[in-house]
Parts: sequence; structure tokens; C-alpha cells
Amino acid sequence: MVHIPTPKIKIVTMEFTNYCNLACWMCPHNIMTRTTGFMSLDLVKKISPQLAKMDLQMLGLHGIGESLLHPQLRECLQILRDDLPTTHMGLATNGTFLTEKNFNKMEGLVDEVSVAIDGFTEDTYKKHRTGGDFKKVLEHVYNIMEYRAKIGSEKPYIAVQMIDLGQGEEEKQKFEDFWRPKILKQDKVRFITKANFGGQIPGIDFQIKKCAALYAQVSVLWDGRMTTCCWDSDGKNVMGNLNEETFDEIFFSQEYDKLREKHELGTLQKEKHLLCNTCLVPACS
Ligand SMILES: C[S@@+](CC[C@H](N)C(=O)[O-])C[C@H]1O[C@@H](n2cnc3c(N)ncnc32)[C@H](O)[C@@H]1O
Ligand code: SF4
Repeated sequence: MVHIPTPKIKIVTMEFTNYCNLACWMCPHNIMTRTTGFMSLDLVKKISPQLAKMDLQMLGLHGIGESLLHPQLRECLQILRDDLPTTHMGLATNGTFLTEKNFNKMEGLVDEVSVAIDGFTEDTYKKHRTGGDFKKVLEHVYNIMEYRAKIGSEKPYIAVQMIDLGQGEEEKQKFEDFWRPKILKQDKVRFITKANFGGQIPGIDFQIKKCAALYAQVSVLWDGRMTTCCWDSDGKNVMGNLNEETFDEIFFSQEYDKLREKHELGTLQKEKHLLCNTCLVPACS
């Protein structure tokens, strides 16, 4: 009899939208087949009280898309913050729309905004962030840091982020040396490991055999479908729909347990949940 650890949701990511203005090579947005849309306020209102009961470590306010494009961003964030006054909320953005106006929608509600820059030079940036404007993103980061100081606000903290995509140690060091003096103590310069989104990104190949995500995290797609993790960009592992069911009903279902058991036994090959076979990441942030 295989031992299944007791599951408890600790990390949730919410996809406010899967619309995106960029086409980064390392992101599965390029190959996504799902329809595009925005999470409704009604859905946020429905799931927010459930999240409040979970004692979450972290709520991620992004999926495979650009959350700042959501037309009711402030309203969505306010609902969540009212229900979850102390939960750490982080939002990742590509920085294109990180204007003062959009900063105001997050101000006081989001704990941390991470801005994807992925390069010290414009050339490196362009290689990874297809369609992005390096100078504009940098200008946005400078502006909002200045604006944040001007209005005397602390949050959101800013994390300038680089995914390790082979930029090399020298460029990483330059990135660090460039940003460190510009940011506040509570802000971050962050380097993250590249992921292959469950084996979906050509050129990033590695895999793990055991995954912690199945026991500790879930991801909510913009349309309310709930899937096993934030790497499931196309809803291949959808386990239920939060428009009709609760987190608990889905997360503690027999179907979910069956998936965990098969994953523990390593017998998922050639099954529906193929994504878990080829995935690197044990947990999202
Ligand atoms: C899918 S993006 C969506 C948010 C936003 N559009 C952005 O680019 O930041 C969510 C996070 O995943 C990161 N990301 C994208 N592709 C990745 C990869 N192959 N490995 C690791 N992180 C990745 C982004 O930098 C961002 O921090
Ligand atoms: S990484 Fe972000 S910006 Fe780039 S394509 Fe994916 S969702 Fe869009």
C-alpha cells in the first residue's frame, strides 16, 4: 500500500486573465489552446471566502497571462484583501503596463510585484521577452519606485526578476549590481530557475519523479476551472470547476487521491495526467 501524504492547500495561484501582450519563447502562452478571457468578479467573490479559511502561505495573482490587463483589477484585489488581511499576495507582471495608474490599483493591497526583466542588456531582454520594450519596462520600474516614495507607501514591494535562461554569471552579476543600489531594502533582486511547464517548453528538458504540488497547491484558471498547479498552462490536469464546486470538494475528491496515488507509484505514464510525468517544479511561487 502506497503512503499518500496528507494534502493541504498552502499555495493558490489565480489567473485573472490569460490575455498577454508578449510572446516570450520560454512561456507556454505561445502554445496555449484555451480560450482567452478575464476572471469575473462574481467568481472572485465566490472563491475568496474559501481562500480565507485555508491559512495560505501565498496567493499568486497571475496565471499564464498579464494580470494588469484585467479591467477590474482593483475590485478583484480589494475583495481578496478584505477576506485575507494577512495572506502574502504576489503579482507577477511583464512590466509593460506598470504605470502609476495601475500601481494605484495594487497599492496597499498587493504585498509584492515582481517585474520580469530577464536581462541586463536590451539585447538579452529582446531575446527572451518577445514583443517587449526594454526601455519602457525600466522606465516604469524607476517611475513607480519614485511614485511609491512620493505617496509614502510601502507596498507593493518590488522584485526585479531574472529567470536563469543561460544569460551567464557575468550578466547576472551586472543585473544585481545595477539594481541593488536602486531598490529599497524590502525590495528584491530575484533570480529564478527556469521551468519547463510540465515538459511543454522545447529546449528546457528535465523532469522530476515526485511532486509536492499535488499535495499543497492549486491553480485557478480565469474561467474557474481548478487545476493541479500553476504550470498547467492548458488545463490538462483540470480537476474540477469552482463555479460549481468548492476547493475542498475538488482537492479532497477520490479522483485527486487517485492521481496522487498513481504519481507516488510512478504509474502515470500514458494516462490523462501526462503533464506530471515531465515536470520539473515541485512548487510554484
Ligand atoms: C507566466 S508569467 C505571467 C505573469 C507575467 N506575464 C510575467 O511575464 O511576469 C508568471 C511568472 O512565470 C515566469 N516564467 C515565465 N516563463 C518561465 C519559465 N520557463 N520558467 C520559469 N519561470 C517562467 C515569469 O517571469 C513570471 O514571473
Ligand atoms: S511570460 Fe508573461 S509576458 Fe511572457 S508570454 Fe508568458 S505570460 Fe506573457
